[in-house]
Amino acid sequence: LASIMVDISAVEVGTQLTVKWLGKPVFIRRRSAEEIEAARATAVADLPDGASENANKPGTDASDANRTLDEAGEWLVMMGVCTHLGCVPLGDGAGEFGGWFCPCHGSHYDTAGRIRKGPAPRNLAVPVAAFTDETTIKLG
Ligand code: FES
Repeated sequence: LASIMVDISAVEVGTQLTVKWLGKPVFIRRRSAEEIEAARATAVADLPDGASENANKPGTDASDANRTLDEAGEWLVMMGVCTHLGCVPLGDGAGEFGGWFCPCHGSHYDTAGRIRKGPAPRNLAVPVAAFTDETTIKLG
């Protein structure tokens, strides 16, 4: 698997960076306190997909803490590929749950990238990723 290093030093709170990796978009979002709070206030039982879909935490549930790269929950790294038929969802608070919205057939994802409404069957996938230092994330 080809790895890449992403410099995240310029990503402000409440914004995201999209990079290309293995020919696909990857969303790297630095969530605001409000986004983190909204995601953490949601019960796993209310989610259509109860799995974290996080390659770094296989077999875990979709609790917000199992979706993010850091303990504080500020950094969310996900494939920018809708789990329905692969369109690229819109971000920056799009959709009814303040996260991402896929305009192809109307899938709404929340601030943790979890599917909440629409035809997509799974949460946006979290790829293998890790911090190599405070301002660098390695994908793959
Ligand atoms: Fe996203 Fe169909 S591809 S809703």
